Amino acid sequence: MGRVVPGSHQRSLRALSHALSSAARPDRLRLRTRSGDALTEFYTGILDLRSSDDRGPVIHLTAGSGSGSPNLSIRLEESPDAPLPISPSLGLYHFALLYPDRRSLGAAVGRVLDEGWYRIDGAADHGVSEAFYLRDPEGNGVELYRDRPREAWPREGDEVAMFTRPLDVEELVEAAGARRDPEPPTLGHLHLHVEDLETSGSFYTGVLGLGVRQSSYPGALFLAAGAYHHHLGLNTWARGRRAPPGSTGLIGWGWRVPAEDLARVREWAGEAGTAVRGGAGEISLVDPDGIEVALRAVGEA
Ligand SMILES: [Fe+2]
Repeated sequence: MGRVVPGSHQRSLRALSHALSSAARPDRLRLRTRSGDALTEFYTGILDLRSSDDRGPVIHLTAGSGSGSPNLSIRLEESPDAPLPISPSLGLYHFALLYPDRRSLGAAVGRVLDEGWYRIDGAADHGVSEAFYLRDPEGNGVELYRDRPREAWPREGDEVAMFTRPLDVEELVEAAGARRDPEPPTLGHLHLHVEDLETSGSFYTGVLGLGVRQSSYPGALFLAAGAYHHHLGLNTWARGRRAPPGSTGLIGWGWRVPAEDLARVREWAGEAGTAVRGGAGEISLVDPDGIEVALRAVGEA
């Protein structure tokens, strides 16, 4: 599945002392789409997200009722002539919707199957979580998952020890009974195809301040703020496959962070010579593969 991260690389990442606040978490992403209607139909009809009432070239998707969950926002930016990238390409591998419990995950997966959605990639037990994988109408990878309790997570030293084993989807859906009303999901993590694991790993640890949570998985690196199993996965499984400029797919993603994190990331970016845009309440950077990473300050993240 790819190369193992060399040990010296692991040590150099760990040697960095920069750490984003443990309260920081990803909460939003931006997708370029050829058809806002097709994606809105999928995300509202199959995955039960809510769309903004105003239908312009930008559509906002959230989860939950009322004003929606503050922990999930997907901004669809329509560009009808955008090329569709080959799959896989550098950029998004998948983004992951985290359900609060097993019944909700089973209900969400049951709904996908009941609706006859055909772009399904599979399912897996990762030890820390149970996950179901599918694709939206433009091929963006979407994971639906739920976490096991932290005390049940497999560990190896200071790291988690996630694995990939078969998951009994039928049993998962049956556990939800006849219900198809999952509690709203949040944005649990993002997983990116990157050109170079060391370059991207250095950016996300040294500039953004994420910590290494698992370095033993072949060709991949898992990072998080605090002690979560991962808020970001990086892998080199699409190395050398760059999508044409302006293609559909991930433009950027964002985090909600305690206000003090903005100044800290600015400082770390300065040390690394990385450009930072933005002002008082929000800053953004561009990762080594051209993905925008935004940080928005919130009073209580
Ligand atoms: Fe994932």
